[in-house]
Amino acid sequence: MLKTIRPFLSKYKWPSILSPIAITCEVLLEIQIPFMMAKIVDIGVANRDLPYIINTGWIMIALACGSLICGILSGIFAAKGAVGFGNEVRVGVFNKIQDFSFSNIDHFSTPSLITRLTTDITNIQNSYMMIIRVLVRAPVMLISAAIMAATINGDLVKVFLVSIPVLAIFLGIVMSQSYPRFTKMLKRTDELNADVQENLTGIRVVKAFNRQKFEIKKFHTANTNLTDALIKAQNLIISIMPAMMIVMYGTILAVLWYGGNMIIGGTLLTGELISFLTYCTQILTSLMMIAQVFMMIVISSSSLKRVCEVLDEPVEITNADADPKLVVADGTVAYDDVYFKYDLKGDADVLDDIDLKIASGETIGIIGGTGSAKSTLVQLIPRLYQATEGTVCVGGHPVQDYTLEHLRDSVSMVLQQNVLFSGSIADNLRWGDANATDAQLMDACEQASIADYIEELPDGLHTQLGQSGVNLSGGQKQRLCIARALLKKPKIIILDDSTSAVDMATDKKIRESFKTHLKDMTTIIVAQRIATIEDADKVLVLDNGRINAFASPAELAESNPIYQDILNSQKKGV
Ligand SMILES: Nc1ncnc2c1ncn2[C@@H]1O[C@H](COP(=O)(O)OP(=O)(O)O)[C@@H](O)[C@H]1O
Ligand SMILES: [Mg+2]
Repeated sequence: MLKTIRPFLSKYKWPSILSPIAITCEVLLEIQIPFMMAKIVDIGVANRDLPYIINTGWIMIALACGSLICGILSGIFAAKGAVGFGNEVRVGVFNKIQDFSFSNIDHFSTPSLITRLTTDITNIQNSYMMIIRVLVRAPVMLISAAIMAATINGDLVKVFLVSIPVLAIFLGIVMSQSYPRFTKMLKRTDELNADVQENLTGIRVVKAFNRQKFEIKKFHTANTNLTDALIKAQNLIISIMPAMMIVMYGTILAVLWYGGNMIIGGTLLTGELISFLTYCTQILTSLMMIAQVFMMIVISSSSLKRVCEVLDEPVEITNADADPKLVVADGTVAYDDVYFKYDLKGDADVLDDIDLKIASGETIGIIGGTGSAKSTLVQLIPRLYQATEGTVCVGGHPVQDYTLEHLRDSVSMVLQQNVLFSGSIADNLRWGDANATDAQLMDACEQASIADYIEELPDGLHTQLGQSGVNLSGGQKQRLCIARALLKKPKIIILDDSTSAVDMATDKKIRESFKTHLKDMTTIIVAQRIATIEDADKVLVLDNGRINAFASPAELAESNPIYQDILNSQKKGV
């Protein structure tokens, strides 16, 4: 874990080093004060020496001011170091997630990634701040207070031989219990976030189905689970305080008892006993602080582990084998003995022995029942997922020979679950081509049959979309997504059920415009409706991850039972 996190420490190295130095100075100055106090009582007051008392008083004030300044400096450095460190880690994790492939994201789930980016990193940041401040302050304080106490009276120090082990044992027990409890608490936070995220993204469906009561109950359960876990974790921490107090007052009582007897016996002065008591409190609070830091380390180490899991996740799809100069020459696609499964440990193949050749410029339809792996099949072309066995070639080269940038610029895919982002229509379209002029944007919209609608809008291309395009209908969204994909001027375009919400006539218009304006582009259309693919050059019938047939629509209508079934069922519908 430390190896993973170390690179993020270097940028804010100096504040992280200066803070402990400043705090050490603070402690070394502060620790003198009780000693001076003893001198005032035992020398100044005993001899009724006013100038001595005033002089020592001035020294004490100087010491206090010096210690105050060092304390402030150390606080500033610590905040700078810790916040800077947290910021670096956050940027690092976010950048890493941007490199993730689909399967990497499947592995973590979105809500868990959100908790890791927020709660977990904040935990790490806080404990880092504690570590650079307290982990140095407390031991320095402990040791110097112990030395000072021993200088005052070597015999009285023996009281600590009992109290320190008692406290140590108790704190050890608490810490060993806390790791599992805090890990559990974070897991519950993940679950709550998952619930809330799902609810909020699906709030319209929740309302349409009147599921609010059910959702409230679900939230309540997740929230109660989190609360219970939190209380269990907090109970441990709370128990430290009273235990600490018992040990502390026990020690003070013992010191007073033995120290009082020593004063009566004449081996200890009153002022010495007063300052001894101050050192006594300092020693025990230092111990307490050390325990708290360890506690914090324990809590944050489960957060650190979760953040490192993200940072250490091997990115499955990279440019490792790519030739940076290679560009996609044409729109041919070839599958050669391709097998695929989502879960490498699972035994069932989602795609089973796929052999397929698509010539450049062809229009291919793909049809098959839901779950027959249509989406899976086409996602291998832009390398959103990677074939488990066999090769997928585009433009005559295996997909992994291209850099992801070159490949995905040439292979435009309109995903089945597509999203638009908040911003204007033009902003969204320019995802396809950042430098496109308004005329080029409208051209693409024309081909996707959405131009008329945009022209009617008062702000045209500059109309603002709500978050994920809420102010558009399903069909309008789909057509904008197609226009966005077209702006890349791809060699291959893949429409995964992308006109399902568009009416038949518009659907036909889009396909006709593809045929006339984009003749050289390979078009792959995954569809539910036979009508969408009836004028394709060839249609692939998928059945449970296997190719059932690959022929012209006319041939299939004549001889393929699956195709005939779908055809008949849809004819009846009409
Ligand atoms: N991200 C995923 N993780 C695991 N399994 C998946 C994932 N996506 C799809 N599947 C499974 O793969 C099979 C094919 O899914 P898919 O290609 O989406 O089918 P289609 O697009 O034909 O409806 C289904 O059984 C589905 O449950
Ligand atoms: Mg699908």
